[in-house]
Amino acid sequence: MVEERTHKSLWTETTPARRYPAPQGDLEVDVVVIGGGIAGLTTAYLLKQEGKRVAVVEMHRLLTGQTGQTTAHLTELLDSPYYTLASDFGEKGACMAAESTRAAIEKIAGLVEQLRISCGFQRVPGYRYAETEREARDLEREANAARRAGLMCMLTNEVPLPYPVKLALRVEDQAQFHPREYLLALAEGIQGDGCYIFEETQMTELREGVPCRVHTPHGVITCRDVVEATTTPLNRVFLHTKLYPYRTYAVAGPLEGPLEAGLYYDSQDPYHYIRTQKVEGVDYVIVGGEDHKVGTEEDTERHYEALEAYTRRRFPVTRIDYRWSGQVIEPADGLAYIGRNSNSRHVWVATGFSGTGMTFGTLSGMILTDLILGRQNPYAALYDATRVKPRAGAKDFIQENAEVAFHFVADRLSKPEGHDLSEVPPGEGRILEVDGKKVAVFKEEGGAVHAVSPVCTHLGCHVHWNKAERSWDCPCHGARYSPTGEVLNGPAVKGLQSKKIR
Ligand code: FES
Repeated sequence: MVEERTHKSLWTETTPARRYPAPQGDLEVDVVVIGGGIAGLTTAYLLKQEGKRVAVVEMHRLLTGQTGQTTAHLTELLDSPYYTLASDFGEKGACMAAESTRAAIEKIAGLVEQLRISCGFQRVPGYRYAETEREARDLEREANAARRAGLMCMLTNEVPLPYPVKLALRVEDQAQFHPREYLLALAEGIQGDGCYIFEETQMTELREGVPCRVHTPHGVITCRDVVEATTTPLNRVFLHTKLYPYRTYAVAGPLEGPLEAGLYYDSQDPYHYIRTQKVEGVDYVIVGGEDHKVGTEEDTERHYEALEAYTRRRFPVTRIDYRWSGQVIEPADGLAYIGRNSNSRHVWVATGFSGTGMTFGTLSGMILTDLILGRQNPYAALYDATRVKPRAGAKDFIQENAEVAFHFVADRLSKPEGHDLSEVPPGEGRILEVDGKKVAVFKEEGGAVHAVSPVCTHLGCHVHWNKAERSWDCPCHGARYSPTGEVLNGPAVKGLQSKKIR
């Protein structure tokens, strides 16, 4: 398999991990968790603490999906403003959103302390700041809503950033950590005593029933419940109409001057998100942003360049050591979907975390553990994965799904990017027309050529080449494939069909 050019994050590069095996034949447990990121590992860890036998099934290596590509902000400042949440979910819903994300941060703090995890966990203030009059007016509105929702916050002009801001909403007691150090410690606590972690094991089929059966190339795992903690659930067609996949970018460089620890968010659209972290004795600034819809940008490399320029312009940094990109799944109405899958009795989903994956990933573990054990959870109704809120996010719902329909038709009718292999530069991919049919062609630096079908195996949209990450990305629901067609991100579970070309 030719590697995608996943730029490596600060987290993956600074924390080696042990290897976990694939299953050795059939197996029976209580719960199978698909996906070895923060939602999957937290759910598995908490279920094990309750006496359940759990198997985590990870397609690649643990924490190499979106959790490895995060910037790891632990915050109650969600992507949806509190005034929007109050209008769409009621004042009580906004309060519950604040309370639940606070509970998730405290759950992480508690586990760090209880398991003595060395992961640089640090409580810091969070700032959402305005640089224009218009942004400041919006921030005043948000401050009122956030206060009513119960956040410990205030408006201030004092923001410890090395450039002027007009106004900021300061929220106390947010947090940051090294996500991989934290989660690798949780993984250690899962393995053993009838619980398993399986790496490089792809679920090939899920048969729902009593019991459920999870098929893998190495055997069938039988269980009562299945949790799909795969960023975007696999083959859940209805749920996919409520999920919109975006790419986001991050860079990190060593600080050459002071920058006070904190979580900082500007008010641009898309916004930038900034924090610091000491790793191996070096203080880094980590800056993220430049979001765009998956599969809709030709020159993805320019987003890294823009982010690096922004970072150098604003912070005491001359060197960028790490750059990486991740997938953000935006929910239709602004809140994550966590709970039972529609029309399922024993399949549970956790998705739509927006830019708050660490907080919502942990909250998912807390809610799903209660639901699987048949216990009440105070936040379950708010995050109910089957909910449909016709008014909340209706404009986005119509526009995003119209775009899916557009891609489904327009990409089939669009002109190919060439007809000849010589039109594919080395190290690049192009959609060519060969013998009257469209083919996704990738050419290695050495000249070897790989051809696959451009038809996404999820629901049939056409993939687009992602130059910066060197992958084939689907604009409809965010599936991504390696240059040679293997699945990198769901919801697809099958690779792109390989093609022979002359
Ligand atoms: S991800 Fe749904 S069609 Fe490609």
